Amino acid sequence: MGNIGLWLQPRYAAFAVIVGVFLASVLVLPFLIPWAMATVGLVALVSGLLVAVGIRDLYQSKQSIRRNYPVIAHLRFLLEFIRPEIRQYFLEDDQERIPFSRAQRALVYQRAKGVVDKRPFGTQLDVYADDYEWINHSMHPVHIHDWNFRTRVGEHTCSQPYDLSLFNISAMSFGALSANAVLALNKGAKIGGFAHDTGEGSISSYHRVHGGDLIWEIGSGYFGCRNDDGSFDAERFSACARDPQVKMVEIKLSQGAKPGHGGVLPGAKVTREIALARGVPQGVDCISPASHSVFTTPIEMMEFLARLRELSGGKPVGFKFALGHPWEFFAMCKAMMKTGITPDFVVVDGAEGGTGAAPVEFTDHVGTPLQEALLLVHNTLVGLNLRSRVKIGAAGKVITAFDVARSLALGADWTNSGRGFMFALGCLQAQACHTGHCPTGVTTQDPVRQRALVPDDKAQRVANYHRNTLVALAELTGAAGLTHPGRLGPQHIVRRVSTSEVRLLSHLLTFIKPGELLESQAQHAVYRVFWNMASAESFAPAA
Ligand SMILES: Cc1cc2nc3c(=O)[nH]c(=O)nc-3n(C[C@H](O)[C@H](O)[C@H](O)COP(=O)(O)O)c2cc1C
Repeated sequence: MGNIGLWLQPRYAAFAVIVGVFLASVLVLPFLIPWAMATVGLVALVSGLLVAVGIRDLYQSKQSIRRNYPVIAHLRFLLEFIRPEIRQYFLEDDQERIPFSRAQRALVYQRAKGVVDKRPFGTQLDVYADDYEWINHSMHPVHIHDWNFRTRVGEHTCSQPYDLSLFNISAMSFGALSANAVLALNKGAKIGGFAHDTGEGSISSYHRVHGGDLIWEIGSGYFGCRNDDGSFDAERFSACARDPQVKMVEIKLSQGAKPGHGGVLPGAKVTREIALARGVPQGVDCISPASHSVFTTPIEMMEFLARLRELSGGKPVGFKFALGHPWEFFAMCKAMMKTGITPDFVVVDGAEGGTGAAPVEFTDHVGTPLQEALLLVHNTLVGLNLRSRVKIGAAGKVITAFDVARSLALGADWTNSGRGFMFALGCLQAQACHTGHCPTGVTTQDPVRQRALVPDDKAQRVANYHRNTLVALAELTGAAGLTHPGRLGPQHIVRRVSTSEVRLLSHLLTFIKPGELLESQAQHAVYRVFWNMASAESFAPAA
């Protein structure tokens, strides 16, 4: 229980009152006349039962919300239980207001708990709605035994290539996430043998406890490898990157939910632990500038990439970004061509991706959605014959096996999920991440609130969610008659474009042939307009 002051929170008030009523009724009972004794006795009995429920809530590990809201959390479960009945009377369809629908979250919770994730009665989706998509199955389905699909990153350039799972934990910093959340995610990654991206907040002591595979993300703040003035420190970087737990290094250029917008962790949230992990002073605003200082041109960026690969002892190095001006990505590709240096991977983050906190205009109206960004990156690398050297990761609302399959069909080699794994940790989508008042201890630095999340319990749920999503992917892939999800292509997915018309994604979307862009860029509008504006010497558009 530690510092009692931390427990004096409004969310414990109801329980405190019940304990008070119970103690008072028990204390006065012996002094009452018989009929009053019956009444107060009943009160003592009921409040006593509630006290027992409350104590059990505080110490059980399965449901985070009960640990943070003893006794009153059961009201939520009661409402959830009668929700379908009352919904049509009181509540509009909440899918319009929140990023993930109730059905989507329920599926993740089921897979995380390892309970039956099947559904009776057929689909809840409207198969005649525009944009409804499906995978065509085969008359000769295949049964795939091994669901643990991998893709090798850094095969051509690294002395330590990494066999990456097709579904991993996307970058989320310690600081945005609680220590217990980081512990559970990393232990889950260890149990499942998949990767856990640190986010730009660097590697904390909580990432190290269980030894799960890490992708170390280096943002513009160079946390964990910086000098006191905030500049990049190669020696510190090398010492950390050579740790066997670090499997890959990812330079963060931007994330989908707030591209072009730096980050500030307010001083009040920069605890001693966060300061230690990031190598910044405690209690002082921790700034992530909107852009990097170690490189200012595409060529310098490629050279920095090659330097990190060397300093890490030959581990895969790549970058993560949300697509903005197409000429900037083209400029990076021209720099790859000019220098002969290629990243081992590119992670494309869709504008629909998540964040701990960002201005609404950025989350709603800045950055390119995953579909278009992934296509442009895949097509450009194919068109320049660079695709075999550069693997592509995709992120942005990927939480089900169909989401994974769809991203692979559009050109990705693997997928990452942020909020999917937050749901596996018990996130209720309260959307309170930016307040520090997360009800399930996922995105808070409050020591009592994060006590709600029991790492050992949630770690197993993280591993279950990963496993059961890939098992579902194996079933989907086999049903289509394929032996590996890597064989999924746009010709396997159909989209409804109107009530009377459906189209294959391979016909609906543009796919470029290998080497096509080396000959000419005239065929496709985006290249016709932006290719010549791109220069390997500058991110700015050529006049
Ligand atoms: C709480 C939270 C913190 C995040 N922190 C980072 C970060 O430090 N670096 C980064 O590149 N992306 C960060 N992201 C973005 C995710 O890595 C991911 O790209 C995005 O959320 C993808 O979408 P998904 O949540 O729909 O899977 C964060 C997202 C969330 C929800």
